[in-house]
Amino acid sequence: MDKERCHVRIGVVGLGYVGLVTAAVLASRGNSVTGVDVDVSRIQMLKRGKSPIFEPQLDERIGNARSNIEFSEDYSKLSDCEVIFLCVPTPNTDNRIDLRYVMAAAAEIKEYNASSDLVIKSTVLPGTARKVSELTGMNVVSNPEFTREGSAVHDTEKPDRIVIGGKSVERVREIWEFTGSPIIVTTNENAELIKYASNAFLAVKISFINQIADLCEKIPGTDVNVVAEGMGLDRRIGREFLRAGLGYGGSCFPKDTVAMSSFAKEKGLDLSIVNSAIQYNDNRVPFLVKRIEENLDTLNGKRVCVLGLSFKDNTGDLRESRSLMIIENLKRRGAVVRAYDPVVHYIGDIDLYDDLSKCISDSEIVITATEWTEFSKINPSLFRGKEVFDLRRILDPKEVKLTMGVGIGKN
Ligand code: UGA
Repeated sequence: MDKERCHVRIGVVGLGYVGLVTAAVLASRGNSVTGVDVDVSRIQMLKRGKSPIFEPQLDERIGNARSNIEFSEDYSKLSDCEVIFLCVPTPNTDNRIDLRYVMAAAAEIKEYNASSDLVIKSTVLPGTARKVSELTGMNVVSNPEFTREGSAVHDTEKPDRIVIGGKSVERVREIWEFTGSPIIVTTNENAELIKYASNAFLAVKISFINQIADLCEKIPGTDVNVVAEGMGLDRRIGREFLRAGLGYGGSCFPKDTVAMSSFAKEKGLDLSIVNSAIQYNDNRVPFLVKRIEENLDTLNGKRVCVLGLSFKDNTGDLRESRSLMIIENLKRRGAVVRAYDPVVHYIGDIDLYDDLSKCISDSEIVITATEWTEFSKINPSLFRGKEVFDLRRILDPKEVKLTMGVGIGKN
């Protein structure tokens, strides 16, 4: 097979961050792709050529692939697909993974096309592929994704590795060969666990560096960014995921660490390291708001500008956003909160500014809550006379007088 182009009839079920990016990338590589989602409004938007989510490069890939990608709410459109990727959500219910969408989608797929390879991309606990195989009688392949929102297209096209679990995986392997990335072929269970172990490890890494940041704040002359850089140059540690800040949010780490911990508990095992990272992360926002309050007489009646609303930069996704938690905490203490975000322009009861400079100049206190590059480039003069709390540690303390920067030990 031509390694650059691949011509497989592919179905993708669930057109959220994972599914839509998978569909767009695989279609742009020459495959013929049918994307199915039960959300009719989402399908209508996609049919009009509009992406329902903000994700860099996604519109471009969908545009390039227009002739070989179609969207539908009708599962019967999958009947001639050779490979079907399952990309539906796996939320937690009572801290345990809820497989209802996976099972419902798998049952529908079986109805229309039981001879295709059913590839689970959704994050599922070990043993799930086996259950889906029992339910459908299909060849079930585990192919977890490791893409980050905000760089999902890049991560899908150039992943560090591809993990494929199952007995008959050749077609799936061929689909991903264009990436040139190392491919691990293993059991379904290993593939499923690799995903959880990876997310849990990264969550632990973030909680670890945040705890080092707390320690830095007790030691004059230290700066967590420099400490992280010095640690990260050791290849055994690596530079990524050592950015101290508000703690991890988003739709994956909080959910997956908790589900993994409950899963282990059911097996009689206390994942104490993961549990500790979860607990630390849960306390992070209240801890930081308390630190802010300690630095001021009071928050009551103070005009506070929060920079960034999404759970991380380069996305408009608000799920488990630490920024929203900060805002709620500040409001409870009587602060008058307003916010600016580069891509989120409307949200419930938050006073949102379209103009970043005005949002800052109208406020007495400024808080960085998402690591958008735009914020690290703000003209330092705008901060003059303000109390600045750099909770994402993105401002240059030599340029901006910080009241508090996460992980900076003051003299
Ligand atoms: C994460 C993983 O990075 C992906 O590999 C995985 O595929 C995905 O979950 C998933 O399971 O679907 P994502 O949640 O999109 O991706 O975003 P990350 O870039 O991992 O950021 C997660 C959170 O950690 C954000 O709130 C971010 O601000 C925070 N973070 C990240 C830090 O506080 N410090 C860091 O150094 C890195």
